[in-house]
Amino acid sequence: MDSSSSKKILLLFVTFLNFFYILLAKNTPFSMSFPLISTQLSHNSSSKALFLSSLMANSHQNTNTKIMPRVPSLNYKSTFKYSMALIITLPIGTPPQNQQMVLDTGSQLSWIQCHKKIPKIPPPTTSFDPSLSSSFSVLPCSHPLCKPRIPDFTLPTSCDQNRLCHYSYFYADGTLAEGNLVREKITFSRSQSTPPLILGCATESDDAEGILGMNLGRFSFASQAKVQKFSYCVPIRQGNHTVKPTGTFYLGQNPNFRTFRYVNLLTFPQSQRMPNLDPLAYTIGMLGIKIGEKNLNISTRVFRPNAGGSGQTIVDSGTEYTFLVEEAYNKVREEIVRLVGRKMKRGYVYGEALDMCFDSVHSMEIGRLIGDMTLQFENGVEILINKEMMLDEVEGGIHCVGIGRSESLGIASNIIGNFHQQNLWVEFDLRNRRVGFGKSECSMQV
Ligand SMILES: *[C@@H]1O[C@H](CO)[C@@H](O)[C@H](O)[C@H]1NC(C)=O
Ligand SMILES: *[C@@H]1O[C@H](CO)[C@@H](O)[C@H](O)[C@H]1NC(C)=O
Ligand SMILES: *[C@@H]1O[C@H](CO)[C@@H](O)[C@H](O)[C@H]1NC(C)=O
Repeated sequence: MDSSSSKKILLLFVTFLNFFYILLAKNTPFSMSFPLISTQLSHNSSSKALFLSSLMANSHQNTNTKIMPRVPSLNYKSTFKYSMALIITLPIGTPPQNQQMVLDTGSQLSWIQCHKKIPKIPPPTTSFDPSLSSSFSVLPCSHPLCKPRIPDFTLPTSCDQNRLCHYSYFYADGTLAEGNLVREKITFSRSQSTPPLILGCATESDDAEGILGMNLGRFSFASQAKVQKFSYCVPIRQGNHTVKPTGTFYLGQNPNFRTFRYVNLLTFPQSQRMPNLDPLAYTIGMLGIKIGEKNLNISTRVFRPNAGGSGQTIVDSGTEYTFLVEEAYNKVREEIVRLVGRKMKRGYVYGEALDMCFDSVHSMEIGRLIGDMTLQFENGVEILINKEMMLDEVEGGIHCVGIGRSESLGIASNIIGNFHQQNLWVEFDLRNRRVGFGKSECSMQV
């Protein structure tokens, strides 16, 4: 399979609460897919595809950022495969059936594949068979979550003819993903399992994997399972994605925590309703961007939500690349053009989003000329992107800087995508409401 087909992504979106779309970017071959971006901006489906993720921003959402109760914390260590997304295998049901799910810090609802269709694209995956699980139950229509317009849940639900709570996503290409809301346990081991959690059970979907929704919403996996912290280490990947490297994932305490530097989450009062803000996302205070030794002249204002909620900076495992709002993006592009503009491919835009691209023959040299890039956050926290990692091979012979303009996706936030989280521990500490970063060699067992 060539690399361009591996990155084909279909876009999907859903109208919700009348004025609100959820875009679900789906990629076919090598997995992935995801999530849900919601936006009230234009919904030109031809333009937003790419590597999106999952913000479920919802102006009608309760923030539900309540403090985690003091209960024994779940501790679990696992690995995941990294391609365009982080694909984790979780043991679902009783006895456990291994299910592949995309770890997505940008969305709320988790769902598993319950249909029997064999995916067209290898590797073969097995969908979940509810009839084999003693802990499976369906969510009846009488459940409050199935009432239309429930404020902090962004799925369009309805009651089907069997009195089951049904949800559906419409994809931009006309296909449909749908299923029922159910309750099921995640059984990590004999001694560690969750209570039955609310999940989507997809009866119809073209994706190979489910989604593990990990945002701050009260129906995310993290909230329902009362996870106090979780962390992952994204390994370096090959440009062509033929080899999917393995990373490490922890629920609960991470033994490497002493090396982490933390930045507090920005929180937003529930009373503060801002149309473009996703209050359930992991939002941190970004201060600036440095390319080589040069601090770009970007006002910190553009990295924070304005009165309409535009400009929040989100750490998202479900989005592949990094996206910056216009003002920040322009400054980055200006500097890169100054350094290597002569070698840039004119008129070439990958996925209608990445427009700083080069022919492969130049790729090593380009990285060297641009230098390292540093994303600077509050509390002196930095993400350093090595010059060798500035470019990603997007298709045969073409490398692009892994940064796009948010507007090209129709979103109003800055998003730090998983491409810029490589060789880094990223810990989401829910109890202390902060995000930690620690440099690491993620392809080793860590
Ligand atoms: C959608 O995008 C396409 C291609 O970029 C463009 O030709 C078309 O005019 C756009 N439509 C709207 C409604 O913006
Ligand atoms: C993918 O990249 C790796 C390393 O760069 C290379 O060994 C492999 O042959 C490539 N595979 C394809 C199909 O291009
Ligand atoms: C930084 O940018 C602002 C507004 O874009 C401009 O007014 C100011 O002169 C710039 N400062 C430097 C040192 O270039």
